[in-house]
Amino acid sequence: MGLKLFVTGGCGFIGSNFVRLVLRERPDIEMVNFDALTYAGNLENLRDLEGEKRHRFVRGSICDRAAVDAALAGGCDILVNFAAESHVDRSIHEPQVFLETNVRGTATLLEAAVKAKVRRFVQISTDEVYGSLGPTGVFTEATPIQPSSPYSAAKAAADQWVLAYHHTFGTDVVVTRSSNNYGPYQFPEKLIPLFISNALEDKPLPVYGDGRQVRDWLHVDDNCRAILRVAEKAAPGSVYNIGGQSERENIDVTRALLRAVGKPETLIRHVQDRPGHDRRYALDISKIRRELGWEPTVKFEEGLQATVDWYLKNREWWGRVKSGAYREYYEKQYAGRLEGGGARGR
Ligand code: NAD
Ligand code: TYD
Repeated sequence: MGLKLFVTGGCGFIGSNFVRLVLRERPDIEMVNFDALTYAGNLENLRDLEGEKRHRFVRGSICDRAAVDAALAGGCDILVNFAAESHVDRSIHEPQVFLETNVRGTATLLEAAVKAKVRRFVQISTDEVYGSLGPTGVFTEATPIQPSSPYSAAKAAADQWVLAYHHTFGTDVVVTRSSNNYGPYQFPEKLIPLFISNALEDKPLPVYGDGRQVRDWLHVDDNCRAILRVAEKAAPGSVYNIGGQSERENIDVTRALLRAVGKPETLIRHVQDRPGHDRRYALDISKIRRELGWEPTVKFEEGLQATVDWYLKNREWWGRVKSGAYREYYEKQYAGRLEGGGARGR
């Protein structure tokens, strides 16, 4: 008998890559994809899967208990919760919706999963729950969490909530905390797709502050393989860091992107910094290496070139995404910053 997955947020960036990769590589798996289709959810991300019988899309919110109960009525073995508000800058403009979706939504979904006797609940969390590092050191799974943005605080609350269910009720939950993902179908509000698409349109690239903040970049396919491995093999109640071992300063990523796109560095603008901006994230991934035999396989420079090529080939996709409501967001986030040349730092 095959494995039945219930994936939430499967029309977003990581979720859609996960759905595609699993269907391609695992003929024994079928799945329900439950997604509210917020601004970040896009059925076009899965257009190539039309007619695929092992994938069933259901529109609904993880905050809506009746909708979740109805979708779970068919039963499933493993639930993977990708659904979330995922952008730090938006959490600064509008924190409440992060509390609602990331905390209340996760709690509602978990409650429904317990009732529906789902075997295992996989919570997709983030390295941002650990807070910010100085120039040295790494986060291990034992590092106390110390989130700093409304986004990461809400993700931390959700990840602690599901672990509390394991501790108190013995619910089978596992948590993944990954570093910054990049790859195809990423919404162009995040650094890499925003800068690739702006560069292709000869628009300025707004680098926050001095641009020396560090992120550890992980190709989305590597993350999806790690998530599947954790879902199938991890011990109940366990937490796994998933990182790309590719720490880079934002300014270096920006320069590499401009080289890959063939555009000049004059497009770079240092603008006012993000409030409360985390300086550096870095993960110790020895636990997943040792216990589950997972390794990141995509070299950052190669993954970045492939991602640039994807955005070059898929102008229509991001052209459509960057219209409508996106423009209002872009104005709110960048207009004041980009006018008058912007400030270096705050
Ligand atoms: P995304 O913003 O691209 O996609 C989120 C998806 O969730 C969208 O399809 C959206 O429609 C859906 N969604 C939002 N609210 C919902 C609701 N109430 N009910 C059902 N669906 C809802 O996000 P992403 O970058 O793909 O991130 C997926 C998950 O991975 C998130 O939980 C995020 O916190 C986590 N994560 C992301 C990164 C990253 O670098 N992108 C890194 C670490 C962890
Ligand atoms: P982002 O992709 O938003 O991910 P996160 O904040 O979750 O790490 O941002 C990655 C880094 O790039 C982060 O240090 C903020 C910075 N950044 C900019 O400098 N300019 C931008 O316009 C954006 C969106 C991000």
